[in-house]
Amino acid sequence: MLVSFKSCITNALLVLLATAHPLDAGHRSCEAPSGAKAIYFLTNEHSNSVVAIAVGANGTLSGGVKVATGGNGGSTVNSTGGSNGPDALGSQSALTVVDNYLFAVNPGSNTLSMMKIASTDATDLKLIGKPVAVSGQFPVTVAASSKNRLVCVGTTGAQAAISCASYTSKGLGSMSTRAVFDLNQTTPPSGPLNGVAHTFFSADETRLFTTVKGDPTSNKTGFVSVLPIENPSAKDTRSSPNGTAVLFGASVLPGTSNIFVTDASFGAGIFHVNPSTNDVSLVSKAAIQDQKATCWAAFSKQRGSVFVSDVANNHLVEMSAVDSHIISTVNLDNGDPGLIDLKVSGRFVYALSPGNGTTPAAVTVVDSSVGKQIQHFHVSQLGAGKSSQGMAVLE
Ligand SMILES: *[C@@H]1O[C@H](CO)[C@@H](O)[C@H](O)[C@H]1NC(C)=O
Ligand SMILES: *[C@@H]1O[C@H](CO)[C@@H](O)[C@H](O)[C@H]1NC(C)=O
Ligand SMILES: *[C@@H]1O[C@H](CO)[C@@H](O)[C@H](O)[C@H]1NC(C)=O
Ligand SMILES: *[C@@H]1O[C@H](CO)[C@@H](O)[C@H](O)[C@H]1NC(C)=O
Ligand SMILES: *[C@@H]1O[C@H](CO)[C@@H](O)[C@H](O)[C@H]1NC(C)=O
Ligand SMILES: *[C@@H]1O[C@H](CO)[C@@H](O)[C@H](O)[C@H]1NC(C)=O
Repeated sequence: MLVSFKSCITNALLVLLATAHPLDAGHRSCEAPSGAKAIYFLTNEHSNSVVAIAVGANGTLSGGVKVATGGNGGSTVNSTGGSNGPDALGSQSALTVVDNYLFAVNPGSNTLSMMKIASTDATDLKLIGKPVAVSGQFPVTVAASSKNRLVCVGTTGAQAAISCASYTSKGLGSMSTRAVFDLNQTTPPSGPLNGVAHTFFSADETRLFTTVKGDPTSNKTGFVSVLPIENPSAKDTRSSPNGTAVLFGASVLPGTSNIFVTDASFGAGIFHVNPSTNDVSLVSKAAIQDQKATCWAAFSKQRGSVFVSDVANNHLVEMSAVDSHIISTVNLDNGDPGLIDLKVSGRFVYALSPGNGTTPAAVTVVDSSVGKQIQHFHVSQLGAGKSSQGMAVLE
């Protein structure tokens, strides 16, 4: 415990020293193992549902319920028109939690659902109002800002866009388009290449970042979009950092102006967001030698590092939040074909494996302080299969 606390401080200092003009002026802290109350993900079946599972004091999962979103799931399609899965959406953050609210995309019905999480039971979810139409088609990723009372959705179908709506305790306002991406996609989109991957707010919630995957097979270049959020008429700035191809899931690096982004073609890297121009440039990158598709990233406050997952290699790789070097690899031996979306809470990592139709869907819980799996929790009894997507946590 003492050792990890010390390395946490050291990492926090390195992060602070590495940046001159942080977009986030807030303090980093080394918190004790925090009590996550529940995790959430989407079944993303035709009748879409949120699965909510309670987290115990020792970090393990138990029970679980399924709550309908009132909308439909969907899948990207492969070259012969078949549904993709695992990773049906090719995205990170298909649902998100902020304060006591949960927001979830419905890719098959072009809507967003909002739910209230009960204060007494984090698995007690109630839909607030009806799902609201997004502008654009095939929503796959959602971000919410408590400070701005704003929720923004990325769509990646024939109309690929970012649209945002305000929200109150009574529900969602109507969505308006904030940026349009000319991807020449279809609805449902062909995947997993050429599409919107992940939309997320900067730590200070002044900007919305969106990663868009390129398609090296047709010379389409991916990019990061940076949208100033406080001025509704502001345009986004798009950058294609040198040496990147299939930018995918990402994480802000609190206390810095840098973001950590995976690239399915090689591994992951750290990128600097210029606070005055919003241009994004490469700081460092690292190849993961045995990777197949490194696509999801989650920052660990406690370790000051980032965990990434791979849909076709059943491991978690921990990378530096300062220079992206590989710190450790947790090879999992639980029969899953790979892992998709993940979250870190305190010392515990929660990563979803949708399985592949024959191997059932499961959530793997890893204790990052010892680099070991502590639980492999099956979720097929909760209605989750190979289309399941997303990961969110309430702390
Ligand atoms: C966690 O707590 C649960 C219930 O209290 C117990 O059944 C389980 O064995 C514990 N697991 C670990 C890894 O400590
Ligand atoms: C496309 O997906 C279908 C099932 O969803 C699968 O049977 C088929 O083999 C896939 N085709 C290719 C080219 O991957
Ligand atoms: C758009 O996609 C279609 C196939 O869906 C392709 O035939 C066409 O060439 C593409 N257009 C551009 C400008 O890339
Ligand atoms: C991609 O661009 C390179 C260099 O401009 C070119 O040689 C190649 O033929 C292009 N590939 C496709 C599929 O358009
Ligand atoms: C991009 O990277 C390549 C190889 O790493 C390098 O040769 C080139 O100069 C870089 N371009 C820019 C604009 O930094
Ligand atoms: C599903 O994953 C398991 C474990 O990796 C593998 O043995 C099996 O062949 C896979 N099945 C399909 C249909 O891809």
